[in-house]
Amino acid sequence: MLVNVQERESPAMAFSELKARQSVMWGNGPYERITNTIRDIHALVIERSDPQPGERVLDAATGTGAVAILVAARGADVVGMDLAPVLIETARERAAEEDVSVQFDVGDAEAMQYDDASFDIVTSTCGVMFAPDHAAVAGELGRVTRPGGRIALACWTPEGGLGQLFAMMKPFLPTPPEGVGSPFAWGSEAHVRGLLGDAFELEFEEHDSPLALASGEEYWQLFSTSYGPTKSAIEALESSRRDEFHETWIAFGEQYRDGDEIVHHREYLLTLGTRR
Ligand SMILES: C[S@@+](CC[C@H](N)C(=O)[O-])C[C@H]1O[C@@H](n2cnc3c(N)ncnc32)[C@H](O)[C@@H]1O
Repeated sequence: MLVNVQERESPAMAFSELKARQSVMWGNGPYERITNTIRDIHALVIERSDPQPGERVLDAATGTGAVAILVAARGADVVGMDLAPVLIETARERAAEEDVSVQFDVGDAEAMQYDDASFDIVTSTCGVMFAPDHAAVAGELGRVTRPGGRIALACWTPEGGLGQLFAMMKPFLPTPPEGVGSPFAWGSEAHVRGLLGDAFELEFEEHDSPLALASGEEYWQLFSTSYGPTKSAIEALESSRRDEFHETWIAFGEQYRDGDEIVHHREYLLTLGTRR
């Protein structure tokens, strides 16, 4: 039987189209309002990776540059890279406001534009986990980190609060192409060992970043106006499905009610590695 190969989309093509969409989706913010809810994770990533003045640091999937800017303020020589051009623009503005020098680049964590062994430290906070090709990201982390260099990756766990949030959102989101790894697999120790265990000596820590808000409605207001994946999904839905999404979100948030607030526990895995 003859197969028209033109009609079959290769996984590489599907992934590159997905990333083109993702670069716009993540920029559909203002993402700064969301990154402010994970400042505790930024602080821990920096504490554990412990950048010293003069060390060369890459913050991969930096978003609006929160970690990169804090690390630069400690005197390190910092590069922040992200797929979303809009977020990189904001990151540059924020660095100028904070009066710190950071090189911000648009780039892809699956194919980084940096030389082999060019960083002492590579960090990523809830970042590279969202690239579709996990093996490609892992290969790049190993390639750009110098022998003896460190990595610190904070990634939401599959069964934790963010895994549950995405499970709630799933019926309202576009279906990803076949073969895309779940971002939350990066929150599982076995998966990360499989990806990075050959290149890095690894240690793992489990943490929680609780988010306290007044109500499920406030949770919806924050994410529907500022979180790219949610905002973009809403824009693509018909109005009746939007109402359904809104109601589903409120019910989701309200299950975490604790007195006069809701507290959503968001568990994450912190992977710490030293390049062999
Ligand atoms: C949840 S945000 C985290 C941003 C930032 N690290 C922080 O702490 O706020 C996820 C980020 O991953 C970026 N991202 C997704 N896929 C990427 C890829 N293939 N290469 C580089 N960045 C990517 C998105 O553009 C987005 O900024």
